Amino acid sequence: MTLPVPAQSTPGTGEQSANQSALPPPGSDPEWFKRAVFYEVLVRGFADSNADGIGDLRGMLGKLDYLQWLGVDCLWLPPFFASPLRDGGYDVSDYTAVLPEFGDIEDFKELIGASHSRGMRMIIDFVMNHTSDQHPWFQASRSDPDGPYGDFYVWADDDTGYADARIIFVDTESSNWTFDPVRKQYFWHRFFSHQPDLNFENPKVQEAIIDALRFWLDLGIDGFRLDAVPYLFEEEGTNCENLPRTHEFLKKVRKIVDAEYPDRVLLCEANQWPADVVEYFGENGDECQMAFHFPVMPRLFMAVRREQRFPISEIMAQTPDIPDNCQWGVFLRNHDELTLEMVTDEERDYMWGEYAKDPRMKANIGIRRRLAPLLDNDIDTLELFTALLLSLPGSPVMYYGDEIGMGDNIWLGDRDGVRTPMQWTPDRNGGFSTADPQRMHLPLVADPEYGFQVTNVEAQLRNSNSMLNWIRTMISVRKQHPTFGVGSYAEIGSRNPTVLSFVREFGDDVVLCVNNLSRFPQPVELDLRRFEGYTPVELTGRVQFPQIGVLPYMLTLGGHGFYWFELSKPAAPAVEEEEEDWETTASSSVAQSLLEAGVVGPADSSSGSGGLGAEAPTNPTHGES
Ligand code: GLC
Ligand code: CA
Repeated sequence: MTLPVPAQSTPGTGEQSANQSALPPPGSDPEWFKRAVFYEVLVRGFADSNADGIGDLRGMLGKLDYLQWLGVDCLWLPPFFASPLRDGGYDVSDYTAVLPEFGDIEDFKELIGASHSRGMRMIIDFVMNHTSDQHPWFQASRSDPDGPYGDFYVWADDDTGYADARIIFVDTESSNWTFDPVRKQYFWHRFFSHQPDLNFENPKVQEAIIDALRFWLDLGIDGFRLDAVPYLFEEEGTNCENLPRTHEFLKKVRKIVDAEYPDRVLLCEANQWPADVVEYFGENGDECQMAFHFPVMPRLFMAVRREQRFPISEIMAQTPDIPDNCQWGVFLRNHDELTLEMVTDEERDYMWGEYAKDPRMKANIGIRRRLAPLLDNDIDTLELFTALLLSLPGSPVMYYGDEIGMGDNIWLGDRDGVRTPMQWTPDRNGGFSTADPQRMHLPLVADPEYGFQVTNVEAQLRNSNSMLNWIRTMISVRKQHPTFGVGSYAEIGSRNPTVLSFVREFGDDVVLCVNNLSRFPQPVELDLRRFEGYTPVELTGRVQFPQIGVLPYMLTLGGHGFYWFELSKPAAPAVEEEEEDWETTASSSVAQSLLEAGVVGPADSSSGSGGLGAEAPTNPTHGES
């Protein structure tokens, strides 16, 4: 068995001279995504480089050192394309243009180059199902039904078709059809009524979408998160989701990507049951390499609140095997509501009752809150959730701000409450922007508990016990054990239903994870006879635990406590004293240099604290060159 470790990159062979890629040579690491830690970051919400109150690409450029320090392997950028921004940019009005307030294509190229030079990859969102009604294709389609774009959308004379398709945005929409007064026909839309669905039956639509994908792939991106793909095709008498022709189209996309663009990944957003999601991997792994595991996410919240492992055990047991070249994407929170579509009615009521006590916290079929407030800012619970995120099968996808336990603002509309600006410092606008605070595209969280004055990167860099430093340590521990990314998963039962234990195994790399889902201390006895003679070594402190024998292996855990053990055979080498605090030392010295380099300061170039050191952009204000 070989470790899926990339070949060494040979310096001096890439085209970018200023930004030499630190990634392995193209084609040598097609399964990089299996080991990667992903980080979702909104361009609009991360850092503002030109003091207009809106985060932008150059602002993000100034924060790449921070992301590299954290241990991020791949950024995921939600849409930053031209858009009227009525759905956070998921309403695209030009697939190949950058929204001017975010910067331009040159900025984007620079961002890609700078990420690659730090060994970080980048995937971007691609919304193929629908466009904004402001897209020129739709404008042409509605005004000229017989013209070249007449058939680009799904039009009908009445609103009775496809009646079995559910409505997704139940808070705002009452039908999937909307009457267009210009064309005097109804158009089909699975989401907002300002987001008409493209007509994938039309080969011209397929071509146009593939052209747009190529445009971004040619710029060097490492793949796509494919937004809302279950809905590409419609068919009378079905629920219009996951249809065979949708899979056919995605397979066609994958063929093109594989043939022309090595090492790129397709990550599918299909909010479906495991049995339906696995179809997006293709029978032979010939569709998307990755898919989000939607059903497991709410069950983590359920299991911990109920103090019982069964919600997690059951969904893991129901999760089918996936092809060898594929990987799940695991997440706790993202830019959307915590969706409750993949639970039963009873479970949904339970989740709403427990996690959305104020009706303002609900959105559509879900809960619009961030991780820390969902967990009442309890550090033990936050660490337990993060440990699960980093140890369950799949690649973890973190959401910006959750690494410092950012809060949310339920008084903002739609899902904006979980999309507020990143909190870097206790300074004006949390170090996100030097603009007039009244000009912020969204207000900073400013409540007494989660406000930027207390919850910010700078404060947490200083404290070696902070959530931020802890997460960084856990990410680096994860990276020392490929089994977390590629190993098998086997649950180990026990008579204590509050404890979830599992073994991840990849050749000799064997890790045992034991999680106490209860807030009270718990004992657990595990049947580890298969590992008789092995010695568990706890992964954060490298402390050896008693050797495993034939008797049940007894452990005790603090409330919401967890262990990650390496199971080493026959006996682990003695712990060396001086290694004791290697992580704290390493982490705090880099933290200190980040503080000194001003990486956590405002991204505004005029303040001289872009934070990139030698690689700081010389002209960070976009649109001036
Ligand atoms: C996806 C996005 C969501 C968006 C929707 C419609 O579900 O995650 O933010 O509103 O697609 O485009
Ligand atoms: Ca800006």
